[in-house]
Amino acid sequence: VQTKSISDTPMEFMVDFLTKAIEIADGNANIPEELRVNLQKALDIACDLDGYLEKMSSQESAPLAELYQKTMEHNWEKVVEEGKTQFRLPKECVTSQGQTLNVLVHMSKAKTILEIGMFTGYGSLSMAGGLPEDGSLVACELQPYLKEFAQPIFDKSPHDRKITVKIGSAMDTLKELAAAAEQFDMVFVDADKNNYMNYYKFILDHNLLRLSGVICVNNSLFKPKVYLKDTSDENGFGIFSCVNEEVFVFKVILPLRDGISIIRRVPMAPACAGTQVTYNAIFRGVNGRVAYVTGAGQGIGRVFAHALGEAGAKVAVVDLDQGKAEGVAEELTLKDKGINCIAITADIGKSVNVERMIDSIVSKWGEIQIACNNAGVHMDSASEDTSNVMLKQGYGKIIDTASMASLIVSHPQKQLAYNTSKAGVLKLTQTLGTEWIDRGVRVNCISPGIVDTSLIHSESLRPLVQRWLSDIPAGRLALVTDLQAAVVYLASDASDYMTGHNLVIEGGQSLW
Ligand SMILES: NC(=O)c1ccc[n+]([C@@H]2O[C@H](COP(=O)([O-])OP(=O)(O)OC[C@H]3O[C@@H](n4cnc5c(N)ncnc54)[C@H](O)[C@@H]3O)[C@@H](O)[C@H]2O)c1
Ligand SMILES: C[S@@+](CC[C@H](N)C(=O)[O-])C[C@H]1O[C@@H](n2cnc3c(N)ncnc32)[C@H](O)[C@@H]1O
Repeated sequence: VQTKSISDTPMEFMVDFLTKAIEIADGNANIPEELRVNLQKALDIACDLDGYLEKMSSQESAPLAELYQKTMEHNWEKVVEEGKTQFRLPKECVTSQGQTLNVLVHMSKAKTILEIGMFTGYGSLSMAGGLPEDGSLVACELQPYLKEFAQPIFDKSPHDRKITVKIGSAMDTLKELAAAAEQFDMVFVDADKNNYMNYYKFILDHNLLRLSGVICVNNSLFKPKVYLKDTSDENGFGIFSCVNEEVFVFKVILPLRDGISIIRRVPMAPACAGTQVTYNAIFRGVNGRVAYVTGAGQGIGRVFAHALGEAGAKVAVVDLDQGKAEGVAEELTLKDKGINCIAITADIGKSVNVERMIDSIVSKWGEIQIACNNAGVHMDSASEDTSNVMLKQGYGKIIDTASMASLIVSHPQKQLAYNTSKAGVLKLTQTLGTEWIDRGVRVNCISPGIVDTSLIHSESLRPLVQRWLSDIPAGRLALVTDLQAAVVYLASDASDYMTGHNLVIEGGQSLW
């Protein structure tokens, strides 16, 4: 048995209050007729708006209409009584701004979407409809029952294959996505309201939103406690409409139904951002130097680029994936960083790409003092081209990312090629380190243990994490931030007396 709808939107509240006012007027002979007529006009305007907006929007697809109908007719009281969901889910949970979401996706040219709070999937299917053929949407939902509810109708839609439903607490799913270095063009926050702010912060802090992406927060005018005086805003929606101190964002609220906030981060151009720079005095050793980092689009390379940039270096962010390279370069130019950087797309497995990369850097900045050869594929050519520049200059710091696998045979996974190549990186580092020291070039490598990046979140490696943990004296995997100071040290003059060195950072794993 469905209870009467409860008012959530400013317009629904207006209708409630005006209806009440007309009832009072009707029962009071002293009220002038003109006042009653005006109240009725205001009620008509408020009453008819949502219906008119719906009528003037394109019709939803047949699977969406069926999903809406099924959601409205379903006995949600019975579902909770039978213990199929943990709490009562009113049918009003459904996002009725589906067509608006669809057009937002289309306009923003989003290719990847994250939805937090799926319910019966009306929003998911609407947004998936706005995605291109190769687009994808991850929907987080706590209740397994809802996936079963939605799937038969998803199956009838051509957009079904774009949707992946992740059942579980949204925060756990966010952590999993962040560890896998996933990034989204659009995030739709529409789950438990008391956690909205936590989701918002996590998404920004863990780089889940691409720099050009948008976060849409549903219900931001909820009940409409945000702008009315004398009402409490216990969910803290107001925060979305005031200036966020930590990240510079641009935001608007669409006053549709109970409001959708649309928020995007604003990167600052390096020239004006320069005035905001706060250098870390400890790391002045690389201030003004020119560095490149390969494989800097994510994972270890990304944090190396940040660390070197924060320490004052100009940074070329090099990656195979153009979007990732540009994304990290944009991060570096954000207001609080103001790092001088460029994004370069290059496959460092191809010598022509490496030459082009070196040319781009030298033509922009005239020199290269710091070379971080970090990308998974390590080619001699990268060092060769870089070293020509460095040997001519009579100064350079080459930092290769080797691995603990240069020392031990990691197990139980089989990785002959990886171990062999990493042992090769170490020997190359040692040999060049000694050969070139008298020409002003130091060559060292960093050997991380098992680092929590997408590299170890592949289907085959992920199940091994628990087993690895028992082999690590530190009792945890390495975080990318555990490696940041090391790269700055090896890039700076402070490490001038070190060459051919393998700086092992593995929580003691190679000792057991
Ligand atoms: N994650 C670990 O546990 C771990 C441990 C020890 C060593 N390492 C080493 O650290 C380095 C970085 O690993 P990660 O964990 O950050 O990996 P990752 O997969 O998260 O990131 C690697 C990045 O390199 C880029 N890339 C791959 N091939 C490239 C190519 N040919 N040209 C340009 N860019 C390319 C990718 O696009 C990606 O952005 C690798 O050399 C890896 O072997 C990683
Ligand atoms: C308002 S509804 C979402 C509506 C949906 N976006 C749509 O378009 O129809 C909120 C959903 O969030 C889910 N939810 C609540 N808390 C959650 C949590 N901690 N993690 C994941 N989902 C959660 C609820 O089960 C519910 O289905």
